[in-house]
Amino acid sequence: SLPAEVRIHEVGPRDGLQNEKSLVPVEVKAEFIERLAAAGLRTVEATSFVHPKWVPQLADAEELMPRLTGLAERHPGLRLPVLVPNERGLDRALAHHATDIAVFASATETFARRNLNRSADEALEMFRPVIGRAAEAGVPTRGYLSMCFGDPWEGPVPQSQVIDFGLRLLDLGCTELSLGDTIGVATPGQVTELLAGFARAGVPVERIAVHFHDTYGQALANTLAALRSGVTVVDASAGGLGGCPYAKSATGNLATEDLVWMLHGLGIETGVDLRALVAASAWMARQLGRPSPSRAVQALYHR
Ligand code: HMG
Ligand code: MG
Repeated sequence: SLPAEVRIHEVGPRDGLQNEKSLVPVEVKAEFIERLAAAGLRTVEATSFVHPKWVPQLADAEELMPRLTGLAERHPGLRLPVLVPNERGLDRALAHHATDIAVFASATETFARRNLNRSADEALEMFRPVIGRAAEAGVPTRGYLSMCFGDPWEGPVPQSQVIDFGLRLLDLGCTELSLGDTIGVATPGQVTELLAGFARAGVPVERIAVHFHDTYGQALANTLAALRSGVTVVDASAGGLGGCPYAKSATGNLATEDLVWMLHGLGIETGVDLRALVAASAWMARQLGRPSPSRAVQALYHR
């Protein structure tokens, strides 16, 4: 059976723009987020408080946050999570009144080293005080787990390894666990199996989100498999923007428009106005000077 409703966790302004070659002006980022909120998205990941040298595209987080003041009041229920890798990042995020944060772990050693300059275990230890202090401040933490299906350096990732890291993120106090197919190699049977593994490990499916990339054109099929396993939170990136600068072969995230087209076609509610969302992505594509790779944007916008 399928859920009646799905919450889309929009990652375009963060996961999408972190991978752009050119620097996007801060006022364009703010307008993009505003347009996404106006299109009905209620979770919009805004930026990252990571080291500015590691992700120069998001080095303007401090300038962006004040521009988002009042947005949540204008769009009731809107959450604007930000990525935080360590306590320094948390200090910055809290100083700018972040209400939701996300840490990002890796199910593989190589990616942990490349993305966080730490072993996978050391990365979890780095997150421990972040999650604890955030909770004390009333700020919930989402835990991303990358490379859940395959890693560009290590190949296929054993399910037991993924479940082990996922459980540890939840034990550290993450309120939600987002399972990332960072390089987009998963196929639906593997998704069903991994989710069954987490269910056997006692994790309520309500705490799990899925984060698919469309490298091999499998993102929607994988999403459908996840919905059939009870998942109701799905990550997507408006216009299909993005990838990860520290993972070779990570191409675009699942496009939010393609996801909304499928969900609405299945009679699943999202609260999103697809026309307004397509217009927002087409606007962003013009700012970036190239067309959106989303099939739904292409189909609806050029009609
Ligand atoms: P490091 O070089 O090991 O940092 O980087 P450090 O702890 O050794 O500190 C070195 C200096 O950096 C210190 O300054 C710190 O204060 C400063 P000094 O005392 O020498 O003057 N520093 C910072 N400054 C500002 N903000 C900070 C910060 N932290 C330290 N937060 C670090 C370690 C984790 C910081 C670095 O590796 C990093 O920023 N990595 C982030 C990379 C990233 O953002 N990758 C993309 C996101 S993950 C992703 O895309 C996957 C996902 O989308 C899901 C999926 O698809 O799988 C989520
Ligand atoms: Mg991603």
